[in-house]
Amino acid sequence: MGKGKIVVTGGAGYIGSHTCVELINAGYTPVIIDNFSNSEKFVIDKLETLTNSKIILEEGDCNDIDFLRFAFNNNTEIQGVIHFAAFKAVGESSSNPLKYYENNLLSTVNLLKIMDEENIRNLVFSSSCTVYGQPDVLPVTEESPIKPAESPYGRTKQICEDILSDFVRASNNFRFISLRYFNPIGAHPSGLIGELPLGTPNNLVPYITQTAAGLREQLTIFGDDYNTPDGTCIRDYIHVVDLSKAHIAALNKMVMSNNLIQKEIYNIGTGKGYSVMEVVTTFEKATNQKLNYTIGNRRSGDVEKVFADVTKAQHELNWKTERSLEQSLTDAWNWQQNISNIVNN
Ligand code: WQD
Repeated sequence: MGKGKIVVTGGAGYIGSHTCVELINAGYTPVIIDNFSNSEKFVIDKLETLTNSKIILEEGDCNDIDFLRFAFNNNTEIQGVIHFAAFKAVGESSSNPLKYYENNLLSTVNLLKIMDEENIRNLVFSSSCTVYGQPDVLPVTEESPIKPAESPYGRTKQICEDILSDFVRASNNFRFISLRYFNPIGAHPSGLIGELPLGTPNNLVPYITQTAAGLREQLTIFGDDYNTPDGTCIRDYIHVVDLSKAHIAALNKMVMSNNLIQKEIYNIGTGKGYSVMEVVTTFEKATNQKLNYTIGNRRSGDVEKVFADVTKAQHELNWKTERSLEQSLTDAWNWQQNISNIVNN
């Protein structure tokens, strides 16, 4: 007898798909809700291969509340929900803010309405360290001040956390855990799932692997005149499998124990910061690939330095990262080499 079903909105996406693997490993049954607006259907097949199980898929849009109601009514024994479904391109959110406010906020409101109707009380929410902006003190803790976000995308994450907090206060048994991700990188070591390259990558690691694969001419490092040891920005890069396991730990805290938490927020990172240059040199060493890069201008909106204090998650979720930066970059490179076979087959 499994631990019951967990609805995973955006479950065919990068972090969602990796989390579905860990849900199955932990004895849960994921029910993926996805409209494939930012993911591919073949991910479902790969998940079935990887987990040797049939994946329950409800294809549709969380902005369509009738579809959402149907999807939940179609599945009994739902113990909780993990809400990934959202647009997440920082740059695009500035050029098309209404697309982000409508999708990221409406999908969350719809989801809460249906959870309330179905009396489903446990939610894990996918949030982001972007809510902290440029912290004044590092490492950043969950009590660090929330700064005005640098983008509409970041603002939708802040607003969604406020929506969840207000809903908790108004309801009598709903509770949520918000996981503030730092920088997710890498891929499942099987090479069957990973971050899909839809368009030109905004993020550093996919750009690195595509440059090494010859799909991009050259990596531009956005600025080396920051106040850091080597002048390049510092981030907290976490392996996507470690990040996925944090969702199971958060679920277990709610589903498996009836403790009376109503709302908890956790930083999910490694607790260690690495500069862009360190990522580049670690990639070259880990993969034995020479990377073609140049130093360019700063990218607007970039914060100089951010990395997490993860002691709260370690103590309260009994979770911590296990994979190194080198392992993350090795797995990212392995995925990059596999993806052309997967996409072309
Ligand atoms: C990391 C560092 C860049 C590309 C964003 C979102 C965050 C989350 C993760 C969604 C920075 C530098 C990058 C390149 C570079 N997204 N860089 N050349 O900006 O820390 O976080 O992605 O949840 O919310 O804000 O990640 O990978 O874009 O950049 O030099 O071609 O790499 O300047 O210092 P970021 P990133």
